[in-house]
Amino acid sequence: MKVLVLHGPNLNLLGTRERAVYGTATLADINKGLETIANELSVSLTSVQSNSEAVLIEEIHKAGRAKTDGLLVNPAAFGHTSIALRDAILGVSLPFVEVHLSNIYAREEFRHKTYLSDIAIGVITGFGAESYFWGLRALVKTLSDRKESSP
Ligand code: DQA
Repeated sequence: MKVLVLHGPNLNLLGTRERAVYGTATLADINKGLETIANELSVSLTSVQSNSEAVLIEEIHKAGRAKTDGLLVNPAAFGHTSIALRDAILGVSLPFVEVHLSNIYAREEFRHKTYLSDIAIGVITGFGAESYFWGLRALVKTLSDRKESSP
C-alpha cells in the first residue's frame, strides 16, 4: 500500500512555531513517527511539506498518476482557504484523512471550516503529533477494509 503525507504551509516551523498551540515536536519528529508506523503496517510512505499551494496541488496530481492508495493531509491554513486543493483531491479521486495538531474547533471561528472535511474519510484534530499517528492508522485500516470487501 502506498500513502502520501502532505504537510501544508508553515508546518516546516514546527518545534519553534507557537509551541503552546502546536507542541514541541518538529516536522522531522512527526515524519520519523509516521515512518515507524508505516514500517509496522508494511506501508510505503512519502512525505512532502510545502508552503506553496501549487506544489501541493502538483503532488496530489502526481499521486493520482502513481496510483497512490491514499493521502494523509494536514492542509494547515490552506484547509480554510483553498478550493483549489479540494478540487485537486476530488480530481484524482484519492481517499484521504485530514489531520490537525490543534483542535481547530476550539480556536478562532475562521478555523472551524475547512474545504476538505466533508470529502475526507474522517478528520482527527487536537491531539498534537498523535493526530498524524492516529490518522495514518485510521487511513490504512479503512483502505485495507475496503480492499478486503471489494471483489
Ligand atoms: C493546523 C491548524 C490550522 O488552522 C493552522 O492554520 C495551521 C495548523 C493544525 O495542524 O493545527 O497551520 O492545521
